[in-house]
Amino acid sequence: MTRDEAVLHYHIQTYGCQMNEHDSEVLSGVLEDLGYARADDAAGADLILVNTCCVRDSAEQRILGELGRLKRHKYKNPEVLIGVCGCMVMQDGALDRLRRRVPHVDFVLGTDQLHRLPELLEEAQRCDQIVVQRESGEGENVLPTDLPRRRVEGIRAWVPIIYGCNNFCTYCIVPYVRGREISRPAEDIVGEVQRLVQDGVREVTLLGQNVNSYGRDREDDVRFGDLLSLLNEVDGLRWIRYTTSHPRDFSLDLVDQIADLDRVCEHFHLPVQSGSDQILRRMNRGYTREEYLRLAARIEQKTPGASITTDVIVGFPGETEEDFEETCDLFRRVRFDGAFSFLYSPRSGTEAAKYGGQVPDEVKKERLNRLNQLQYEISLEKNQTLEGSEMTVLVDGPSTRDPRVLRCRSRTNKLVLAEGPEAYRDRFVRVRVGRAETFQLRAEILNEDG
Ligand code: SAH
Ligand code: SF4
Ligand code: F3S
Repeated sequence: MTRDEAVLHYHIQTYGCQMNEHDSEVLSGVLEDLGYARADDAAGADLILVNTCCVRDSAEQRILGELGRLKRHKYKNPEVLIGVCGCMVMQDGALDRLRRRVPHVDFVLGTDQLHRLPELLEEAQRCDQIVVQRESGEGENVLPTDLPRRRVEGIRAWVPIIYGCNNFCTYCIVPYVRGREISRPAEDIVGEVQRLVQDGVREVTLLGQNVNSYGRDREDDVRFGDLLSLLNEVDGLRWIRYTTSHPRDFSLDLVDQIADLDRVCEHFHLPVQSGSDQILRRMNRGYTREEYLRLAARIEQKTPGASITTDVIVGFPGETEEDFEETCDLFRRVRFDGAFSFLYSPRSGTEAAKYGGQVPDEVKKERLNRLNQLQYEISLEKNQTLEGSEMTVLVDGPSTRDPRVLRCRSRTNKLVLAEGPEAYRDRFVRVRVGRAETFQLRAEILNEDG
């Protein structure tokens, strides 16, 4: 397809978590309101936006490399504007670093300033220096709740319910770059979900760094469980997901409450981070391994067949072989369906970066390997228990590797691969599971399911 030369095109690259994915939808919406059209490729675009993440050093290095490579588009067309937004730009010293490492960047936009993009673009066009819109003004409403959004087409949508984070886990940069917790009013959220459903959305994922603290900063008495109950009543909505949960704030009562809400999916993503009490304390996580195990047991008891997944950090400062063994032991006890495991990455400005006892890289990597091997075995065994069973899945669309195969998700968030026509995209279908693998289930489609 050739581009209409008269129309300005934007290209956006997104790194990091779902919150960033969602922010990119907002930025795209703002740009399309300005008359820009989306381009899948940076080559030939008039505006290139990079939405960044800085949760680990590896992410940051990859992004800096990519920003460096974007310079080539300036040679071809000096009029191209390159902008950086997202968490990286919110760090202390970020602007100096960007000016030094990638001076060809034209503008920088803070995560609380998405609505300022139009003015910033105008300024960037006039000005030779990097222009910056970062801190919000005094008393300003920083929530871009009413901004246009360009949704990824389809019947799934992300809905932020709480911005920022108050937890200050000692390894984590997020509270420094995303600020304090601000919950959206429940009426706003319910209204947005109702409008989404009118537009054909059937599945929503509620977003926040810690969804379980939803509402604590507000006067009204709507807490996370109440919000789920309200959304469970929205006609036409079929599946409700949420991420991320904090084990400290996920009460046993909430497990019971969720078990009674038929639209809320049976998937619990509960980042444990470590199985050692000593390390959990030093991470400032606010729960013990016993409390975590009790929570997992309650989920199993109240929601049989639910999946539990986790995040874990290996090689946190001071982690001994015994601490690491405690993590392995916790993994054997809980038997997670899946785990995202990370090498500890010191983030400047955080408490843990200053701790003694930093673990050497080789040790970290060796532990990560061992933990992954253990988890892969468990994932496979858990998936194998599903062989021969039937389930309803939502079809995402054809797999990029083999267009005859559809990628689907179960309520438990399992990746299910089944042969079928593209026409099933965005439909709910009933499948029978055949062969289970470590990261996915192979299945055959039986029939459509509503
Ligand atoms: N708010 C969410 C997500 C935070 S970032 C939560 O609390 O779970 C996603 C994951 O990145 C975290 O769960 C943690 O496992 C990992 N992570 C965060 N900071 C890290 C660091 N400095 N080094 C390695 N992994 C980190
Ligand atoms: Fe980071 Fe902890 Fe907040 Fe999650 S809860 S974003 S890990 S500080
Ligand atoms: Fe990364 Fe920011 Fe998300 S640091 S993980 S994009 S909140």
